[in-house]
Amino acid sequence: MTPSSTIPHTCPWWLLFTFDNPVRKLIHNPWQILLPHIHAGDTVLDVGCGMGYFTLDLARLAGPKGHIIAADLQPQMLAGLRRRAERAGLLERIELLQAAPDRIGIDRPLDFALAFWMVHEVRQPEPFLQEILMALKPGGRLLVIEPMIHVSAQAFERTVSLAERSGFMIESRPQVRISRSVLFRKPKAV
Ligand SMILES: C[S@@+](CC[C@H](N)C(=O)[O-])C[C@H]1O[C@@H](n2cnc3c(N)ncnc32)[C@H](O)[C@@H]1O
Repeated sequence: MTPSSTIPHTCPWWLLFTFDNPVRKLIHNPWQILLPHIHAGDTVLDVGCGMGYFTLDLARLAGPKGHIIAADLQPQMLAGLRRRAERAGLLERIELLQAAPDRIGIDRPLDFALAFWMVHEVRQPEPFLQEILMALKPGGRLLVIEPMIHVSAQAFERTVSLAERSGFMIESRPQVRISRSVLFRKPKAV
């Protein structure tokens, strides 16, 4: 089996430190980005969580009754997140999930899913989006945010169209710095 850190286009775990650091808060403030979407007690997926730049604040926002599924291909990412979550006293709210390239493995209904700077790395976006759609509760939301530097406007719109064909509806296009973003909603009846 190919180690996930050598799969082409997958952000290697050792590169993450270049953008997952305290300076990033000046550009991507997790609280500002996530606050409108998360409620106490929510079940949330952070897919392609890396070492948990957003996961810890998702756990704080969802509170003690919340449940965060942090999924990543790379065990090194999940190990880094475990250390951070333990230090922050948040590990009991976070489920670490080792994803496979063709299946995340979500096994419970979701209120919200975050895919931050990761969809462009997914080998097969269609089944990936469908798995999230199926796991979301009716009315649940998926926030996709992609880096402008790697994802052209055209490529981003292709992903948006794919998601719409899979059954998602566009709810809004939140502004996120140096990124392209879209908030999808799962219709009440799919
Ligand atoms: C650029 S990093 C972003 C990490 C984090 N979301 C952040 O913003 O700091 C992309 C992450 O997505 C993960 N990834 C790529 N494809 C994936 C897949 N199919 N399922 C789960 N994780 C995936 C990579 O291992 C990597 O940790």
